[in-house]
Amino acid sequence: MSALLTGIGELLTGRLPGDEGPELPLVVERAALVLDGDRVAWVGTAEEARSAALAADVHVDAGGRAVVPGFVDSHAHLVFAGDRSAEFAARVAGEPYAAGGIRTTVAATRAASDEVLLAGAARLVGEMLRQGTTTVEIKSGYGLTVRDEARSLAVARRLTEETTYLGAHVVPDGPGGIPGDVAAYVDLVTGPMLAACAPHARWIDVFCETGAFDVDQARAVLAAGAAAGLDGRLHANQLGPGPGVRLACELGLAAVDHCTYLDDADVAALADSGTTATLLPGVEFSTRQPYPDARRLLDAGVHVALASDCNPGSSFTSSLPFCVALAVREMGMTPTEAVLAATRGGARALARDDVGRLVPGARADLVLLDAPSHGHLAYRPGVPLVAGVWQRGRPVLPQPGPS
Ligand code: NIG
Ligand code: FE
Repeated sequence: MSALLTGIGELLTGRLPGDEGPELPLVVERAALVLDGDRVAWVGTAEEARSAALAADVHVDAGGRAVVPGFVDSHAHLVFAGDRSAEFAARVAGEPYAAGGIRTTVAATRAASDEVLLAGAARLVGEMLRQGTTTVEIKSGYGLTVRDEARSLAVARRLTEETTYLGAHVVPDGPGGIPGDVAAYVDLVTGPMLAACAPHARWIDVFCETGAFDVDQARAVLAAGAAAGLDGRLHANQLGPGPGVRLACELGLAAVDHCTYLDDADVAALADSGTTATLLPGVEFSTRQPYPDARRLLDAGVHVALASDCNPGSSFTSSLPFCVALAVREMGMTPTEAVLAATRGGARALARDDVGRLVPGARADLVLLDAPSHGHLAYRPGVPLVAGVWQRGRPVLPQPGPS
């Protein structure tokens, strides 16, 4: 099927100078777009579309509203069971956030059936889609046994191609609640658990932080993952300073996520590497920690992505528009930088160039906003501006009615 969209008041192509492919401005005013199959076939102005007499199976009039690329959420933990709203309430009342809360979700996840885990994750993917997210990465990390990590990833694989093995999330307690043996657990994560999970995963991730895994353990897990054909990414520098960001840069990982506590050497290492710094402001909102300094990173030339980190403990939001608004209000990003970080930035963090942009040849994933420009995503926080979503060239929102 092909579709011609006209009457687009403003189209954010996401194209920047230096990108490969045909020249196009970042923003096209009074734009038109042709989708063919699952791809973008043509992008230009309404006048160009008229003079080329473009035709398609379906014609959609955007009525002067803005169109942006579908959001790319490169960091989410959607396979879990249980509820931690009481932990959130305690935190709001003054309790600090600690990585140990993860164990609460681990117990509930192990007790849940595959069907319950799939239904919960699918519900969140649907929630994301309604807020404009058309590509999502999903991690394991709440199973922490060979069986529970492997089935978490099998669930994730049913929902996305961007699946991440996070057996190295925390060290689970041993029998009787005795703290687990870290070295023995790293052996499990890099041995039988990796063997069971690798067939379902594209990526491998480690929570490199005090209270989780140190830099040598992270290095060992990433090396084992690489040997099994998985590309690496890291959680690092979330709760305090540490060597994780520099490890990610040294290894040339696609992304290092959180980046809340950075020193000058971390920023320089990020600027000198191709590693994307993924910022997760939903975490700082929910844990009441200081926000990462996106301005400092952008001014240093670092590639920045925004993602939700949707998870039941530190950031139970599925909304990239909310993260965009936080990044603009709290982290020194301009509205355009923030929307780019949630689209082409997320794509870069997943080593993808087929999503996150609306240029000829890209995947036809796009969002129609009930707003005249992409800046309204930050200007109108908390407002449901997503009026329509196309995924792989098909309108998925609003749901097409029975014909
Ligand atoms: O990305 N940092 C580690 N993992 C999650 C937290 C998960 C939880 O608290 O359940 C995160 O913030
Ligand atoms: Fe996370």
